[in-house]
Amino acid sequence: MNQPQELQNKKTILSAVQPSGILTIGNYLGAIRNWNLLQEQYNCYFCVADLHAITVRQVPAELRKRTYEAFAVYMACGLDPEKNTLFVQSHVPCHAELAWVLNCYTMFGELSRMTQFKDKSARHSENINAGLFTYPALMAADILLYGADYVPVGQDQLQHIELARDVANRFNNLYSDTFVIPEGLLPKAGAKVMSLADPTKKMSKSDENPMAYVSILDPKDVIVKKFKRAVTDSGSEVKRGEDKAGINNLITIYSAFTGKSPEEVEKEFEGQGYGAFKLAVGETVADTLAPVQDKFNALMGDKPYLESLMKKGSEQAYRRASKTLSKVYRKVGFAQVK
Ligand code: TRP
Repeated sequence: MNQPQELQNKKTILSAVQPSGILTIGNYLGAIRNWNLLQEQYNCYFCVADLHAITVRQVPAELRKRTYEAFAVYMACGLDPEKNTLFVQSHVPCHAELAWVLNCYTMFGELSRMTQFKDKSARHSENINAGLFTYPALMAADILLYGADYVPVGQDQLQHIELARDVANRFNNLYSDTFVIPEGLLPKAGAKVMSLADPTKKMSKSDENPMAYVSILDPKDVIVKKFKRAVTDSGSEVKRGEDKAGINNLITIYSAFTGKSPEEVEKEFEGQGYGAFKLAVGETVADTLAPVQDKFNALMGDKPYLESLMKKGSEQAYRRASKTLSKVYRKVGFAQVK
């Protein structure tokens, strides 16, 4: 399936989202929507990272449901399973297998320096498990298995990509060229979406306050209400400013959804107060998401179809990944019998 694309010399992309919470408009703007633009130019692998998700405690039934949802969201946002390889991480055993090998080429000191590990272990001090610590080695495996040239991620994941590069180089230098050295691909500036409850913090799908984020799947009335209640600054003009994190965020969101520049947005709402602007943002976001939600609901209503696509995706992924894995097994000296 992927062969023709590789023969066309397309570069390879891999990215993943953890099914650890409902996807937000932050994930939509920062990740999934941009992936749509990549699927034409690149040979793309998009993965639902369920193995990563269990590094923090999950309710099993919810994890399962969210895995289906994340897969359906990918497609509802426009990722075409004919053009890309869409798959669930745990369906392709090579990820866990390569992660083990890479664990043995990743240093304790390197992992100790990971900001996300430090943050997460502070937030989940009752469950600082080994998986949370070695999480970047699994992520490196995700990337290196497919020979990804580029990895579209948010700023917060760049440190993990850097580690993947270091580990890949270390392995290549010890043995011989095995892994492609990947590069992070950041979304265009301005797409960073902040919390609606505290606009100095990133919008997070795991925020305990549901007013802080807008889910891709929130119904229109909920979206409108959340924007109406969004924390804004004192003042009333729809204009960006240094001490106006709230309004800056809403302008960013509105301009990302409409394609208008921040200047155009300011002009459009000149002389109107925060109230009118918030309503416009809420309605625009809801109306843009409506067709995505319709498609999502149709897919979730047809589990057998969704499962058949998961199966096809994982078989396609396996074909590529198993090649890398057997190369690695050979290089480290595992006995291989045919
Ligand atoms: N760690 C990433 C995140 O939390 C998700 C992820 C897992 C990922 N494997 C990946 C991202 C491989 C890019 C490539 O956002």
